[in-house]
Amino acid sequence: MLEIKNVSKSFGDKKILDNVSHSFPMGKITVILGPSGGGKTTLLRCISGLESFDKGQLLLGGEDLTNKSHQANSGKIGVVFQDFQLFPHLNVLENIILAPTMVLKKSKEEATEKARSMLGLLGLSDKEEAYPFELSGGQKQRVAIARALAMEPRVLCYDEPTSALDPGLSGDVAEVILNLKSPNVTQIVVTHDPIFAEKIADKTIRVEPIK
Ligand SMILES: Nc1ncnc2c1ncn2[C@@H]1O[C@H](COP(=O)(O)OP(=O)(O)OP(=O)(O)O)[C@@H](O)[C@H]1O
Ligand SMILES: [Mg+2]
Repeated sequence: MLEIKNVSKSFGDKKILDNVSHSFPMGKITVILGPSGGGKTTLLRCISGLESFDKGQLLLGGEDLTNKSHQANSGKIGVVFQDFQLFPHLNVLENIILAPTMVLKKSKEEATEKARSMLGLLGLSDKEEAYPFELSGGQKQRVAIARALAMEPRVLCYDEPTSALDPGLSGDVAEVILNLKSPNVTQIVVTHDPIFAEKIADKTIRVEPIK
């Protein structure tokens, strides 16, 4: 179980999260809904350690990860960014094995083998030498998912995974996320898309703007 307890976060004097508590059951998909500007991305960034929070706790399976940086919890909580953030000068395989070799200190051979199996799983086996500019939006996103999975995260967060894609692809993204469902991976998905949310959610939470 991933838990946030009484988390508050302000930017300057603007409070974005006020004493927010939620639990994210292991192996399940939790969808975060709420209006624009409500703090959904901020909440994901706090969970993943990309942003620190002012008050409260973040617990993963009882382990206190409160305000541990993304670097420090790397491998435990992964993020698939809305704009994918692939490294443009690296090909698909290089994008995926970079962090496992640099951060987890895996051998290139081991990281490559794992990357290839994930690319197979995600239907991208023929793209390992392609550069990001040669990929479609949906393909870039699957590479971003493979890259996050390469760190063997226990929690994988997605910020609006359908928003940068053609609307017709939202069913494919749902399928990828549902296929990744396993007891070992807790998935947290921010979305505005109610049909997509309905397809994937085991649990839904709302993040509302502070009045
Ligand atoms: N780094 C930052 N510095 C200052 N203010 C910020 C920062 N990041 C976010 N905010 C503010 O925090 C509020 C919540 O932003 P956030 O991006 O979390 O909303 P959101 O729910 O993800 O919205 P959307 O659905 O449009 O993506 C907004 O008012 C935003 O302007
Ligand atoms: Mg957002």
